[in-house]
Amino acid sequence: MYERPFHVDDFFCFNNVNFDPLTETYHPAFYMPYLTRWGDICEIEESFGGDICGYMIAKAEGPGADRHGHVTAVSVAPEYRRLRIAKKLMENLENRTTNIYGGKFVDLFVRNSNSVARQFYHLLGYYDFHIVDDYYGDENGLDMRKEFSSGSKKKGKKKKTKHVSPEWYEQWAKNWK
Ligand SMILES: CC(C)(COP(=O)(O)OP(=O)(O)OC[C@H]1O[C@@H](n2cnc3c(N)ncnc32)[C@H](O)[C@@H]1OP(=O)(O)O)[C@@H](O)C(=O)NCCC(=O)NCCS
Repeated sequence: MYERPFHVDDFFCFNNVNFDPLTETYHPAFYMPYLTRWGDICEIEESFGGDICGYMIAKAEGPGADRHGHVTAVSVAPEYRRLRIAKKLMENLENRTTNIYGGKFVDLFVRNSNSVARQFYHLLGYYDFHIVDDYYGDENGLDMRKEFSSGSKKKGKKKKTKHVSPEWYEQWAKNWK
């Protein structure tokens, strides 16, 4: 298996990964800016037989000290899980966030009920930063992040988790959008 850039054509054949209740699927127009603006951090993991095993859709955003990478979607096909594919995709994003985009941290949202993903991110050094009420409409979202120090990766700091409303979060994060 190897990583390669995510191509537009991949949207026509990544359903084996997306047919999963915990994977957020968006409409095609939503994905396009990712491939044109952040093509170096949107990746496919492909098998040597040509299967799409997993993917990462991500972006870089925020000014100054808020500069960071954001995981929009990361998912691995059920038959390819526990092979450290997601770990590799996350490491690639973290390295490119710091080395290419000058990012100070990587963040992401995950469903509160997605205990596997939460455990996975905790193992990678991410901590629970905010709990946003009804972020997914039907349940709360966890805003997780891992901070880096002066361009080099370091273990995620433990901070107190803040429970906030969607309105509070939108206002707080408005400079990044
Ligand atoms: C979460 C997800 C991306 C992990 O992908 P993966 O490629 O299987 O994960 P990795 O093999 O890189 O796992 C790295 C480590 O995370 C932990 N981990 C991963 N999946 C786990 C599981 N099901 N149970 C317990 N620990 C798990 C393990 O410690 C693992 O290392 P190990 O196998 O050496 O013990 C995958 O389960 C998935 O696609 N889930 C559905 C979509 C999703 O939830 N995406 C994230 C939403 S934000």
